[in-house]
Amino acid sequence: MREGLPPPHGGVLVNRILSDKEREKALNSVSQLTKLAVDSSILKDIENIASGLFSPLEGFLNRDDYLSVLQDRRLSKGQVWTIPVVLDVAKSSLANMKEGEDIVITDIGLRPVAILHIEDIFSLDRNVHATSVYGTADTSHPGVARTHEMQDFLLGGRISLLNSTVSNSPYYIPPKETRARFMERGWKTVVGFQTRNVPHSGHEGLQKAALNFFDGLFINPVIGRKKKGDFKDEVILETYQVLINNYYPLHKVIFGILPMEMRYAGPREAIHHAIVRKNFGCTHFIVGRDHAGVGKFYPPFAAQEVFQEFPDLGIEAVLFPSFFYCKRCVSIANINTCPHNQSDHLEFSGTLMRRLIEEGESPPKELIRPEVASVIREWDGPFI
Ligand code: ADX
Repeated sequence: MREGLPPPHGGVLVNRILSDKEREKALNSVSQLTKLAVDSSILKDIENIASGLFSPLEGFLNRDDYLSVLQDRRLSKGQVWTIPVVLDVAKSSLANMKEGEDIVITDIGLRPVAILHIEDIFSLDRNVHATSVYGTADTSHPGVARTHEMQDFLLGGRISLLNSTVSNSPYYIPPKETRARFMERGWKTVVGFQTRNVPHSGHEGLQKAALNFFDGLFINPVIGRKKKGDFKDEVILETYQVLINNYYPLHKVIFGILPMEMRYAGPREAIHHAIVRKNFGCTHFIVGRDHAGVGKFYPPFAAQEVFQEFPDLGIEAVLFPSFFYCKRCVSIANINTCPHNQSDHLEFSGTLMRRLIEEGESPPKELIRPEVASVIREWDGPFI
């Protein structure tokens, strides 16, 4: 087993955050630059590039890297990279933009967020993009649908961060800091856990099974745009606080958010999720059933099998079979631990749990901790 935190992906933790002096100088010149207002998902990508969470990326993919990621799932220099991090822009906005020049990226309130040093301007082929990333052109896939909402052109180039948009969340710990905290605690092995959900007992089972083997657990929910029907970010945060405070050994767990859009790209996204956790400093990464999947688009274990194709990833996947509750074992179980029939099993169905809670009923305590269910039930306003 690997001992010691892994180096960041590509070897160096990228830092594209301007120093105070550079920032002051840059802010003085932004009024002369062309402005581009972007949505909150792009702002999160910018933050993740700047903080090193997307190392080795220093900006939005240029044309060569973009094509290489679509085709080979690697950057043009060879590092594994499976999800294109791109900045789309409408043709009408291109009038004052040129390769080799700088523009200022702002939030929708026109507050400057970053300088983009434009390296490439190139067109987006939505069908090629969707079929390469999601393996389908079916617009009922939320990622494909999103691709069809994208603008016609992509801007590639390095960014320099002027103003952070996520660092005010108390749950956000940038990768430099997670690495420092893991080391402070003396953890030589850290297993990362991705989620886009409120925790059910299957999630808890996976995390605690892993805790038998690793020094620490980094619970790291994705906070950002998700598909319709997924739980709201604040509900995920609060349910996890309740779960961790009541049922976890606190010295073994760190909780921090990953500000990022969910793409539902199954195997490609599982690799991306692992790279990001490597940059946070994790040595291992949990991949269970249908990781980052949606509907029936990916076979349930495709996101595990894909790891065999990337032996140079630099973070190890911890693969688990499907977990369920077994009434005869009277515990969370899986095919490796339980001899009983399927009729003895309760599956973790998010849809069922949501429906029961919506109808004011309590889901079985075997499937979800009562404290977690009550946070959802008593949520003021819609929880999805
Ligand atoms: S995901 O889109 O982030 O993958 P979710 O938050 O439900 O969805 O899952 C988080 C992690 O737990 C993923 O690695 C997923 O594969 C795993 N997982 C969720 N439910 C189960 C289950 N019943 N059995 C095994 N693994 C599971």
